[in-house]
Amino acid sequence: MSVITDQKIETIVAHGGELVNRELKGEQREKALAQAKNYPSLTIDAWGVSDLELIAIGGFSPLTGFLGEKDYKEVVENVHLADGTVWSIPITLSVTEVQADALTIGQPIALYGQDGILYGILDLQEKYRYDKHKEAQYVYGTTDDSHPGVKKLYEKGDIYLAGPIQLVNRPSHQGFEKFYLDPIETRQLFQDLGWKTIVGFQTRNPVHRAHEYIQKCALESVDGLLLNPLVGETKSDDIPADIRMESYQAILKHYFPENRTRLVIYPAAMRYAGPRESILHAIVRKNYGCTHFIVGRDHAGVGDFYGTYEAQELISKYEEELGITIFKFEHAFYCNKCENMASQKTCPHDKSEHVHLSGTKVREKLRNGEALPRQFSRPEVAEILIRGLQRGAGE
Ligand code: ADX
Repeated sequence: MSVITDQKIETIVAHGGELVNRELKGEQREKALAQAKNYPSLTIDAWGVSDLELIAIGGFSPLTGFLGEKDYKEVVENVHLADGTVWSIPITLSVTEVQADALTIGQPIALYGQDGILYGILDLQEKYRYDKHKEAQYVYGTTDDSHPGVKKLYEKGDIYLAGPIQLVNRPSHQGFEKFYLDPIETRQLFQDLGWKTIVGFQTRNPVHRAHEYIQKCALESVDGLLLNPLVGETKSDDIPADIRMESYQAILKHYFPENRTRLVIYPAAMRYAGPRESILHAIVRKNYGCTHFIVGRDHAGVGDFYGTYEAQELISKYEEELGITIFKFEHAFYCNKCENMASQKTCPHDKSEHVHLSGTKVREKLRNGEALPRQFSRPEVAEILIRGLQRGAGE
């Protein structure tokens, strides 16, 4: 499972065996940029650009491009790539039929963002039709278009393009540059810090007391915590990434030991695919060099689409194949009687003693400028969220 890359510290092997690097640099990049002017071009959305970036920097290792039909079918139906490697979410590039007809297999395609920047080149090897309802049912567990991931899927073009990619320009992560590291760099960072065991934490929310509690429970048994918030596309009522980033810095500064935590962004789009997405999230963190990954209550869930522990149940089936240890946590809360954070596993008191706030309630309070209970959120965090959301509302 591990290779020795240093005299002292072993690092976890990337998913599929090797960390992928599909970024062109120097002369090769210059050449590609010049040639791309003659290639047919395609404009892809922010989600597509973030997938391109994650493939290129190795976050999605072993993928080297957008999935071909054989891999796609295996992933959708059997949670594996065609070669047997466990993989849970299809990473695909969709176009309309008209767009597909204009492109020829074997051709390099220049991939532009909606900002007009050339981000990558696709070596087009396949074009194929796919069944959206089937993908929705298998991957999201529902065909209901009130699910944000399913809605996105239904809006896609009817044809998937596939083939290896190369990245020629990185998307900008304005304001977050300091927290942007490639998987190869986080691996080096962990070595430099002397961390042998590292727990990765995915979130699309601010870090509240329950998050902090499960992170610290994990930190009791590993060397370091990689706080790895998703900062790509999220649904419109989630708290924007810039406000969250400010709040993460505050909680780390005030409540975590500096030498045991690092904050690095995960520049992906959120799928809200619950159980299936928990597997992708674990794979990506393994690629970033984590040895452990946290899956708590309703991981990557939305609304009532998934059961509280459905993600834990699914990921448990693949844990051995995944090669990263999953820390599973029960629903955590503050208990007034315990005067502490707890879960059903550790607290004997009645539910009426437990402090619960739904995400909707939290957002409502914050938007109204109301403080959150200290039992739910650290005041330094709540303050930043209130300020951030009020600033956002005033724009
Ligand atoms: S998401 O990316 O998984 O959608 P979220 O911030 O809601 O982000 O959760 C981050 C992680 O914390 C997930 O593993 C989730 O299961 C876990 N989690 C969130 N709230 C709780 C809680 N109250 N108790 C236990 N685990 C939780």
